[in-house]
Amino acid sequence: MKDLLRLRTSLTEEIEQILNEQIKMEAEASAMYLAMSSWCDRNGFDFSAGYFKKQSDEEREHMLRLFKYVSDMGGRAVSPSVTNIPLEFDSFKGVFEQALQQEIAVTQSFNRIADRCQKQKDYVTFSFIQWFLNEQIEEEYVARRALELFELIGEDGTGRYEIDKRVPKITYENTYEG
Ligand SMILES: [Fe+2]
Ligand SMILES: [Fe+2]
Repeated sequence: MKDLLRLRTSLTEEIEQILNEQIKMEAEASAMYLAMSSWCDRNGFDFSAGYFKKQSDEEREHMLRLFKYVSDMGGRAVSPSVTNIPLEFDSFKGVFEQALQQEIAVTQSFNRIADRCQKQKDYVTFSFIQWFLNEQIEEEYVARRALELFELIGEDGTGRYEIDKRVPKITYENTYEG
């Protein structure tokens, strides 16, 4: 049965598996951002709560984009189970530190996928994931910029209040694009 299924797709088992692992990683990122949104909301950081909710939606879109690709290619897209999502975080700044680490991990994961695609000469999937590789420039930039606000503004006095207000306004501009 397994071999029969393989005849219907150009995806190798390995590529199908790492794409399903990425689907799970995006689902986990989405759930983590939602947990961060909840924490921010409960601790008075309303703007950041909205920002993380939006990030959560975006990660789900990423998950669905990958899911559709695996399905469209005749593979088996796996609906992921997501567990162990925390409810509490150490601090306001800690939330953003974790968000940046999460984005860096996603970038590294896509780099590994690109590497496997090249090794397996799967240039269809290689081409498909270019969108994600480019997207990670913005994802890392925004997460890094949010963290920089903590250094620039400082957390004392009304600092955290100011940081919270500025977080949703962070935009990435690809200035050198013609
Ligand atoms: Fe993502
Ligand atoms: Fe992301």
